[in-house]
Amino acid sequence: MNRAHTLLDQVALVTGASRGIGLAIARRLGQMGARVSLCARNAANLERAASALRGEGVQVLALRTDVTRGDEITALVSETQHELGPIDILVNNAGIGIFGPFHQQSEAGWDAVMDTNLKSVFLTSRAVAPEMIRRKTGHIINISSLAGKNTFANGAIYCASKWGLLGLSGCMAEDLRAHGIRVSAICPGSVATEFSPHAGKDPSKMLQADDVAHAVAALVTQAPGSFISEVQMRPTQKP
Ligand SMILES: NC(=O)c1ccc[n+]([C@@H]2O[C@H](COP(=O)([O-])OP(=O)(O)OC[C@H]3O[C@@H](n4cnc5c(N)ncnc54)[C@H](OP(=O)(O)O)[C@@H]3O)[C@@H](O)[C@H]2O)c1
Repeated sequence: MNRAHTLLDQVALVTGASRGIGLAIARRLGQMGARVSLCARNAANLERAASALRGEGVQVLALRTDVTRGDEITALVSETQHELGPIDILVNNAGIGIFGPFHQQSEAGWDAVMDTNLKSVFLTSRAVAPEMIRRKTGHIINISSLAGKNTFANGAIYCASKWGLLGLSGCMAEDLRAHGIRVSAICPGSVATEFSPHAGKDPSKMLQADDVAHAVAALVTQAPGSFISEVQMRPTQKP
């Protein structure tokens, strides 16, 4: 794919973009010509990511935001629209994982995972959708997981959040489809990032953050009449 200028004049908002998959997606969309708004909670890490992208010629806005907070999401979306213009692409990527037997987990842990992985997608998409509806265009891409398709020991809270995210994505897609807006979910298997230790896995055989960015690039360059609603991703070799 010729990356240069494919997304010229478009604005992308990527949540959880200070490292890992979110940063790779922001970089790819920036390379394709989009102006990119990034958020994360840790301001120093966020600024480091933003400066790296600026050094590569990407126009970046970095806004420290906790996506579990509705007031902060309102500020994130309105400042992005004010500084960069209307949002064409929203990537709901921010996510956390808490793992262990469900009967040993706390209510606070449940709330933290659900608020970050699921409620934030509802709040952020709800803030972005009205302007997309007005303009009759847009992509919303939700980063779910193969944990949203499968169950496994120690995964209860995380799996519940990612299964829920797939349900939310499907319903959002139906609500917005007639308005010319495509809502898609990407379900990667294990990706070599700082997200979790991935004990016993060989990082070189795992999916890389850039592989997920490649899927995002494919979704945002579909022909207007095409709608890929879900992407499942696995490495070619079992790590
Ligand atoms: N890595 C995998 O194996 C894998 C596989 C499938 C799906 N995924 C999904 O992919 C997404 C990204 O994962 P990753 O591997 O790139 O994780 P990561 O390396 O831990 O990065 C997570 C990013 O999200 C940000 N973040 C976390 N909580 C946030 C909050 N409340 N508000 C704003 N930003 C927040 C983090 O920055 P701060 O901590 O500074 O906020 C960081 O920038 C997640 O949704 C994850 O569930 C990951």
